[in-house]
Amino acid sequence: MKLGTVFCSTLAFSFALAFAADIPHLQKQGTATQLIVDGKPFLVLAGELHNSSATSLEYMKPVWARLAEAKLNTVLAGVSWNQIEPQEAQFDFSAVDGVIQGARSHNLRLVLLWFGSWKNATSSYAPDWVKKDFKRFPRIQVRDGKTIELLSTLSDANRDADARAFAALLRHVKEVDGQQHTVLMIQVENEVNVEGDSRDRSPVANKAFAGPAPKELMDYLQKHKDGLISEFRQVWETAGFKTSGSWEEVFGKGVATDEAFMAWNYSRYIGRVVEAGKAEYPLPMYVNAAVMGFARVGPPERAHSGGPLSQLMDVWRAGGPQIDILSPDIYGNDDFFVSTTASYARSGNPLFIPESNGGREGATRALYAFGRHNAMGFSPFGIDGSRAPDTDLTAGYDLIAQLAPLISAHQGTGTISAVLLGQNNPSQKIQVGNYTVEAAVMRPRTMGGAPPPQTTVPSAAAVFIAVGPDEYYVAGSGMTVRFSPNGPGPALAGLGTVEEGRFVDGRWVPGRQLAGDETEQGGSLTLRNLGIQRVTLYRYE
Ligand code: DGJ
Repeated sequence: MKLGTVFCSTLAFSFALAFAADIPHLQKQGTATQLIVDGKPFLVLAGELHNSSATSLEYMKPVWARLAEAKLNTVLAGVSWNQIEPQEAQFDFSAVDGVIQGARSHNLRLVLLWFGSWKNATSSYAPDWVKKDFKRFPRIQVRDGKTIELLSTLSDANRDADARAFAALLRHVKEVDGQQHTVLMIQVENEVNVEGDSRDRSPVANKAFAGPAPKELMDYLQKHKDGLISEFRQVWETAGFKTSGSWEEVFGKGVATDEAFMAWNYSRYIGRVVEAGKAEYPLPMYVNAAVMGFARVGPPERAHSGGPLSQLMDVWRAGGPQIDILSPDIYGNDDFFVSTTASYARSGNPLFIPESNGGREGATRALYAFGRHNAMGFSPFGIDGSRAPDTDLTAGYDLIAQLAPLISAHQGTGTISAVLLGQNNPSQKIQVGNYTVEAAVMRPRTMGGAPPPQTTVPSAAAVFIAVGPDEYYVAGSGMTVRFSPNGPGPALAGLGTVEEGRFVDGRWVPGRQLAGDETEQGGSLTLRNLGIQRVTLYRYE
């Protein structure tokens, strides 16, 4: 090989490496996986637009400023396949370009949601030329031979048409945003699942279901047998840990097997779509789940089957290794939020929550997710829905933004944790750094100081960051916090200096020094209103 050729290919290789390192990407830090944007970890403080908002630049005009004022740093915005490819192979990216411009001009980043083959349990975002040609682009069938408006996972034509459009989108995003990185990540499809039955029962699906369980899946399960998600391992174990046979021979007869079959077929298809997109521009890509499964919803006609549920994580990984993250959309109460975040933060899956509630609930849950589970992002749904400012969410995001460098530096290192407390969980003890932290909700106060009888306990969250052997930042609201030492040495802990304050450009600016009534006479931190406190501790006996 000539020297010039070597030089050129080395240069091209270095350029490719520099580019790859530079675009938004995922990076491990201890047990955490972080989103790196322009060289630094980035906590996504987002809101998701209503499904159709980003199709009209006119509609979006007044929205951008409201979102920026609400202290979001990122907006989740849908991209409609129908809108970008109204005729086959003829693309129109004007709405995407306008959304990127709108976000940029308000200093916001974007996560684009690819509403391609599937948006929930329908294919309503497919272009008309796909919808009309049901012979070329087949749909699935559920019980009683009923066809539903859901593109089949088992059609190469469906998959390839979606993948071509997705690749064109990513090529375009690279062209217009490869340098500025307004677009951080891509959600691929939206809450996919089959509704009304536990699996596709078309002739093609029945044939695949009666055939052998795929070798790639069986190889994956055997290779990862000891670390499999326990619920799915249990299904396989109950059927005798067989390594080959039909789906029902290997996993048993029942809805869990039907769900795994659909999960496999969705993940194979979406994995190939992701691959086509990443070949153009390898941004991090995730899929999101409506967190309810067949087992949760009961009767077959109310089933939701095959989505990226945490118990199906191994099937999704085996089928779609190109997908970076399985993400839960979490509505419901705090208990459900706590159990769902825990179930998705398993087996090395990074936590990104694309849909949840806003308001006070959103603020507390975001703080909890970033602190307890090393989340990389949080996003209430329908953020453009109301003209009234969501002051609670804004205050929460402002607090997290102040702490972001500190949270990012500590995620995955065992020196950060968080609690989410409420009616069913009014106190909790967790170990963080050298101390055990005991947090307890504060009940609403009356004039005399006594709590009013029979009040419900409002939900409360706090994050604890051990920045030294005897020093913490604690941020949150609605609770008291006591410390006790771990390990050998004097058994009691005292509060040394307690300061309230703010981080300004990453620098701690103390306000009042707290003692007396404000620390229950030195017994505990009191986080009544949302804020940050720095505390030094000492041990005695
Ligand atoms: C969950 C879906 O993922 C969203 O796109 C939206 O349709 C909401 N449900 C509506 O509540």
